[in-house]
Amino acid sequence: MNRALVLTGGGDCPGLNAVIRAIVKRASQEKDWEIVGSYQSFNGVLWEPSEIMILTEEMVAGIHVKGGTILGTTNVGGPFAWPVKQTDGSYTNVDRSDELIRKLQLMGIDAVINIGGDGSQRISQALYEKGLNIIGVPKTIDNDLSITDFTFGFQTAVNTATEAIDKLVTTAESHNRILILEVMGRYAGWIALHSAIAGGAEVCLIPEIPYNIDIVAERVEQRFHRGKGFAIIVVAEGVKVIQDRADEHSLDEKGEGNPKLMGSATRLKEQLIATGCKGEIRETVLGHLQRGGTPIAYDRILATQFGVKAFELMLEKKFGEMVAYQHPEIISVPIKEVIKKYNYVSTTDPLIKTAKGIGISFGD
Ligand code: F6P
Repeated sequence: MNRALVLTGGGDCPGLNAVIRAIVKRASQEKDWEIVGSYQSFNGVLWEPSEIMILTEEMVAGIHVKGGTILGTTNVGGPFAWPVKQTDGSYTNVDRSDELIRKLQLMGIDAVINIGGDGSQRISQALYEKGLNIIGVPKTIDNDLSITDFTFGFQTAVNTATEAIDKLVTTAESHNRILILEVMGRYAGWIALHSAIAGGAEVCLIPEIPYNIDIVAERVEQRFHRGKGFAIIVVAEGVKVIQDRADEHSLDEKGEGNPKLMGSATRLKEQLIATGCKGEIRETVLGHLQRGGTPIAYDRILATQFGVKAFELMLEKKFGEMVAYQHPEIISVPIKEVIKKYNYVSTTDPLIKTAKGIGISFGD
């Protein structure tokens, strides 16, 4: 009997359960494969006692509809940086990757399928370089992984943000307010860009285009005082104003345990007030609502495609590869290529052109 270990790492994301279900269902078509899940990424293997479980078809029946992950997840620590408490109460990170590989051998694990984002795939690559048979499956609501056209979870997050804008529009109109919606996405503006177009915002601020507050204020003024009497601004959590470019992040900072990015809406509100903007400005931080809940059909389908492909890559022994979507194919690419590049919104992206074409201001 061959045995594959499946785990979910990093922030949760709608569609994770659909991937797990697809792997288990595809494996059931082979006579000699058993799928085992590790609880909370690699923690389930490293904990004493370990927390791993056999995943049966019965256990995964119907879970493609559920948000979150039945395996649990974590975006701190990991096999290369396991926090160990010191006598003075502080924590030191310890590398337990060799021990992890030994434990996996003792558990009879032939291969690992790691479902996770940028940080998790860096761990996959490092373990692959140590000889582990590993396949990556990209996940993130942020859509910030390169090479794949989309990650599952992204479209559900965009839907949630768009519904939020729809709701903000009616209340902004009734109260003549300027409403700011802060959305997630880390250093990429994909969620902001897509939802601003779908929801019909006047301003969309993304990390890739540093904004000038006077230009934002002018667009708000035009819309609020000389136009409809209300305005909607979508701001990505990772935005920068032009003066902030010096502290731009480097790729090295990324990975498990990322710094928290919050407060862009409040900062923007204060900046707008400082320009003399007269309307009443209020902010909404959408937060984890973007990560939770039922995946939309698109994400269930993409996640299912990824799960089936991941299992098949494992059968073909294409270790060190990650599944990816390049329309209309589900392909595989070396994980080391994926983690080299962060998927920013290009300033020449056709969607930027579309957005500008309908008058959305990026503050540039
Ligand atoms: O990567 C997904 C994501 O939701 C980001 O958009 C956000 O910056 C981060 O995770 C939040 O992580 P946490 O839930 O750990 O604060």
